[in-house]
Amino acid sequence: MNKFGMFIHWGVYSKTGLHEQALARYGLDKTEYEQLYKSFNPTLYNPEDWVLLAKNAGMKYICFTAKHHDGFCMWDTKYTDYKITNTPYKKDVLKMLAEACSKHGILLSLYYSNPDWHNEYAYNEKSTHQWCCTNREKSDVEKYKTYIKNQLTELLSNYGKIYTLFWDIPTNIEDKSMNEHVRSLQPDILINDRGWDKGDFSTPERSVPDGARFERMTEACQSVGEQAWGYRADEDYYSIRFLTSSIDKIMAMGGSYLLNVGPTELGEIPPRSREIIEKVGNWYSRVGETLENHSPSSKHVKLRGGIPFVATEKNGKTYIHLYNGIPSSAIAFESGVDSDIKEAKLVNDGRKLRVRKGLLPGWGNGQGYANGPFVSIADIPVDEYEKEPMIIELTW
Ligand code: GLC
Repeated sequence: MNKFGMFIHWGVYSKTGLHEQALARYGLDKTEYEQLYKSFNPTLYNPEDWVLLAKNAGMKYICFTAKHHDGFCMWDTKYTDYKITNTPYKKDVLKMLAEACSKHGILLSLYYSNPDWHNEYAYNEKSTHQWCCTNREKSDVEKYKTYIKNQLTELLSNYGKIYTLFWDIPTNIEDKSMNEHVRSLQPDILINDRGWDKGDFSTPERSVPDGARFERMTEACQSVGEQAWGYRADEDYYSIRFLTSSIDKIMAMGGSYLLNVGPTELGEIPPRSREIIEKVGNWYSRVGETLENHSPSSKHVKLRGGIPFVATEKNGKTYIHLYNGIPSSAIAFESGVDSDIKEAKLVNDGRKLRVRKGLLPGWGNGQGYANGPFVSIADIPVDEYEKEPMIIELTW
């Protein structure tokens, strides 16, 4: 699976400036909300600009919300009038995005919400994020599944090759025919685990606990802001440090990463979101190669002092991912590393680091209780790199 992608949450909810689920979370009036699309006119929408932002950050794919929980469709579907081509903008924004992606060699993935607050058949008592107040009496899973399949036929036939399908909100109803339908239209597609069966890959969200290598194909997702995935005017943006740490850790554990932005109602990626993608991309352009196509370290590396890290291996070299910073200018190996290191390098800027072997003062009683010998990597520029994860390459 490709390692790095951009998630884009965009829909009529962007007009609220609150949240992609503003209708439910803020208890908005549904009748009024469902008029919003009549003034949705994203005159500043320029999909090439989105695609190039992603591409320049080292991302290989974009995952776009074709339909979120509110049921509004961002493509020209035949199966509802609640869609982008019935706005004053009139154009099929998905088609435009698909063209921009293909022009610049970026893969296109689609997000499709199972909850649908507009479709009268969609209420599913076994799942979450359902519309609370109306439609229950008409709920009809079979009819809703037909609607979904019809829409997927459009999405998976008319927009070129689709890289992954991101179902959202597990239905808790197993139906293998749903993914079979998807695969019959796009045989190479990868499907996530939030649909009607387990699919191909897992999707941990927001923060992922420290841990061992993922056993299953995994794509973690995270937004640039803490409060929402869709556009939020008063968003609480994450720090670059927080995001790059999370990306480094998850990719070193073998996962992929979708980093999300929420464009405004006019179609612009908010300036701070853009800046975050650029800064994360700057770090990724320097270290990204170590995060792709690696295997877990065959050496049982252990660092002294409980420093959090992940060790990986690529082309016979070992990589120590110091994703959460280190307290001093050296790391010492408790085990897994002997004195055979030929060279140690800081991947972030290519500088050589000093490899040292010797006793460290340690702790104890009496005389001559220095510990070791330990192999250490010294002269690490900790202060210079306090804002991004450092990756150290060991050549044997
Ligand atoms: C959560 C949110 C939803 C968002 C999704 C992205 O499920 O509830 O609004 O689209 O995460 O993964």
